[in-house]
Amino acid sequence: MSKITAAITAVGAYVPEYVLTNQILETMVDTNDEWITSRTGIKERRILKGEGKGTSYLAIKAAQNLLDKSGLDPKEIELVIVATATPDMKAAGTAAYTASQIGATNAFAFDLEAACSSFLYGMSAASSYIESGKYKKVLLIGADKNSSMINYEDRATCIIFGDGGGAVLFEPNEEGLGLQDEYLRSDGMGREFLRAKFGGSSYPTTVEALENGEHYVFQDGRTVFKNAVSNMADVAVKILERNNLSKDDIAWLAAHQANKRIIDATANRIELDENKVMMNIERYGNTTSATLPLLLSDYESQLKKGDNIVFAAFGGGFTWGSIYLKWAYNS
Ligand code: UT7
Repeated sequence: MSKITAAITAVGAYVPEYVLTNQILETMVDTNDEWITSRTGIKERRILKGEGKGTSYLAIKAAQNLLDKSGLDPKEIELVIVATATPDMKAAGTAAYTASQIGATNAFAFDLEAACSSFLYGMSAASSYIESGKYKKVLLIGADKNSSMINYEDRATCIIFGDGGGAVLFEPNEEGLGLQDEYLRSDGMGREFLRAKFGGSSYPTTVEALENGEHYVFQDGRTVFKNAVSNMADVAVKILERNNLSKDDIAWLAAHQANKRIIDATANRIELDENKVMMNIERYGNTTSATLPLLLSDYESQLKKGDNIVFAAFGGGFTWGSIYLKWAYNS
């Protein structure tokens, strides 16, 4: 019997309406469009507004978009994974609520958190459930309401992050398409350089912490940047080498959209032409768990059955890795 592979068979996405441009940020903090554009490649990002709207709002909208496009009956979904670094609440999972709201009433559901690598790790998890033969329809959603943990007086972070959501369906494939290989890494020494210190179990929020803004995300950008550049490129090289892939075999690089310079450095290391590098950071900024599915959604019409796609991500923790996947359909 041939091995079951796990293929992506449908994609959906959602970004909120409100557009936070570099020009608006210029009125909020000491920054300017030229600096942001040249250092990050970002022009604008989307922000979710509205009382009580959390990450599940983004996840539900992205999943509904996938259901509308594919015609899938949500009752057929067996598992919903929400990859996120910004769950709606503690203790009550965002995925369970999302699954109920989209009508996936026969599914079990859980959240998966690995900062900016959440969706990449989620691809590994979702695929493993399919490859095991136990499940046939796994919905993986990557969604983050980053604006909920950003200090809009901190120019080191507020220019980078945005909100958004994306969803993919994993199903078994009999033609050998779908996930081919993965190389996933982590290193806990990185947690000092990108984190929201207060509000978790180590340091529950105090009035003093709130007053000092220590519940917001802090980033030592330069250190994260250096680690992201070297590690993301290293894992992409590794995945190519161990699958005997040359740059000509690669149709697309789908890299986490954190900084255009990091994506360019990864593409350069594997000597990939610019026109094979998926890019939408200029419109959404860093949406953490949503960057990879938002890329798939934006590029879906250009993807062809059999295309070799190399995914790569790097994020807080530190967490990072690369996945090699064969695209399974023409849209
Ligand atoms: O997705 C998870 C992983 N996250 C990342 O991958 C992000 C990685 N880091 C980065 O993308 C970059 O480090 C940043 C975009 C965050 C910052 O870019 P940088 O080139 O590393 O800048 P820097 O922090 O080294 O700062 C350079 C200069 C400093 O001024 P001096 O000391 O040279 O006078 C900063 O104060 O730029 C200044 N600066 C700014 N100027 C205008 C820092 N932020 C800003 C700003 N606007 N927003």
